[in-house]
Amino acid sequence: MSIQTVSTTPFDDQKPGTSGLRKKVPVFQQPHYLENFVQSIFNSVPELEGNTLVVGGDGRYYNDDAIQTILRMAAANGIARVLVGQHGYLSTPAASAVIRKHGAAGGIILSASHNPGGPKGDFGIKFNAANGGPAVESLTEAIFEASKRLEHYLSVSCEDIPLGEAGTYQIEAMQVEVIDPVEDYANLMAELFDFDAIRGMFKAGFRLRFDAMHAITGPYARRILEQELGAAAGTVINAEPKPDFGGGHPDPNLAHAREMVDEMYSDDAPDMGAASDGDGDRNMVLGRHFFVTPSDSLAVLAANATLVPGYAAGLSGVARSMPTSCAVDQVARSLGIDCYETPTGWKFFGNLMDADRITLCGEESFGTGSAHIREKDGLWAVLFWLNILAVKGDSIKDIVHHHWSVYGRNYYTRHDYEDIDSEAASTLMSMLGSILPNQVDREIAGYKVKAADQFSYTDPVDGSVSANQGIRLLFENGARIVYRLSGTGTQGATLRIYIEAYEADVTRQDQDTQQALADYIEIAREVADVAGYTGMDEPTVIT
Ligand code: G1P
Ligand code: ZN
Repeated sequence: MSIQTVSTTPFDDQKPGTSGLRKKVPVFQQPHYLENFVQSIFNSVPELEGNTLVVGGDGRYYNDDAIQTILRMAAANGIARVLVGQHGYLSTPAASAVIRKHGAAGGIILSASHNPGGPKGDFGIKFNAANGGPAVESLTEAIFEASKRLEHYLSVSCEDIPLGEAGTYQIEAMQVEVIDPVEDYANLMAELFDFDAIRGMFKAGFRLRFDAMHAITGPYARRILEQELGAAAGTVINAEPKPDFGGGHPDPNLAHAREMVDEMYSDDAPDMGAASDGDGDRNMVLGRHFFVTPSDSLAVLAANATLVPGYAAGLSGVARSMPTSCAVDQVARSLGIDCYETPTGWKFFGNLMDADRITLCGEESFGTGSAHIREKDGLWAVLFWLNILAVKGDSIKDIVHHHWSVYGRNYYTRHDYEDIDSEAASTLMSMLGSILPNQVDREIAGYKVKAADQFSYTDPVDGSVSANQGIRLLFENGARIVYRLSGTGTQGATLRIYIEAYEADVTRQDQDTQQALADYIEIAREVADVAGYTGMDEPTVIT
């Protein structure tokens, strides 16, 4: 075979962040940039040789080109077989499902998740291991180290593989199977959920609006919700994946999924609204005139899990990322199961699932998932809700209100200050890190501080330690303020401030969130002198 060894020099900025390597498209288009990173993956995961690799992405700009490059390099690096989604499509959860189902040694997923796409937009690449989950920190570190030493990469020359047609192709000794990107995933969903019950609910007139945001979940949602479950045609809007997401920001939150959100607050609102992000792993759920916070969603799913066939045997445990609200902790306590608190990012849940310590997990950032795969899963969360609704017959709002009456309500908000000066952001964080511990046992604006620390996590399965995962200010009454810097941005720094307070009194559970948290929001800004450091009086995004 005609393997080419191409000389290259290292780039110094190929350190994967919260979820893989994310950069602007033009950065990836520099000669050798993508190739260097892909070779660093192959050099760091020798078990890929002679084995199966899964490749696919969210269809964003540069997805096709990147896949052809990866296929050529995979052939040159001795990969035996590649499964690639038709059109180069695989949602992140579907990629995880395909890796697991076909016993692949890993997968390369092309996505920058919820970040905008297009020629000047964002692109991303990440490696998922044989368990279907994002590479753990030791592996992403190894890939980064390999990238810094790289002197050459391997490739072959061949015609492009026709990704538009399912079929089996050959590049040198490597087999390429272009597969239906939805099939395996849809089958897995049918195993977990009571499709008959959900079908019955749609038949009886239940109305759903699902916003695919011109991103990857369009084909998945149409097939599963409309074709298999009988939701009305047109239930899925913005269903065609587009390389630039139709110019939108494929992030399912109240600001970006505007079309669907407006409909959910209109007079003729459907029973349920939902949206997913660029690569299909996030979800947002709304009832009529009612927004379910992701933290509450996780808690409600946990509390009602045994109503769903795939979880009828109960949960081994649950987990949430540290900044996520403690709503699920209340449910775990009442179920008598463990609740783990992990750093931000899905990669920390994998070990807990592999060791069967947890079944469900989630993050405040519109991510919920379970041990059925090793990624968060947008459409799965929507189906979970549909299944619960089909069994209970109540509205989403009633289900959540009932949940609060039993477990209490965790008022919760996140304030983001985007695109701020990186240096100012890190100075703010180190200033906080040094002053906050002195506040313990003191009162700030009338609230007694119980603890203040830098969150550090010791993985209970492999003992690995992840330090500096956010600064916590914990009050005696259970309220919390958390500060951390985003690890997924591609421009400047983003300061995230997470604010939470617990309310057990049912008569006080119906307040506006920003109002209920007003004191803590004020404290959060004052303590960190946010305006002073960022030059911004208000956050850019509030969720
Ligand atoms: C953000 C979210 C985090 C999520 C990640 C990938 O990371 O906050 O919960 O796991 O995107 O979807 P951040 O930008 O905060 O580092
Ligand atoms: Zn995503």
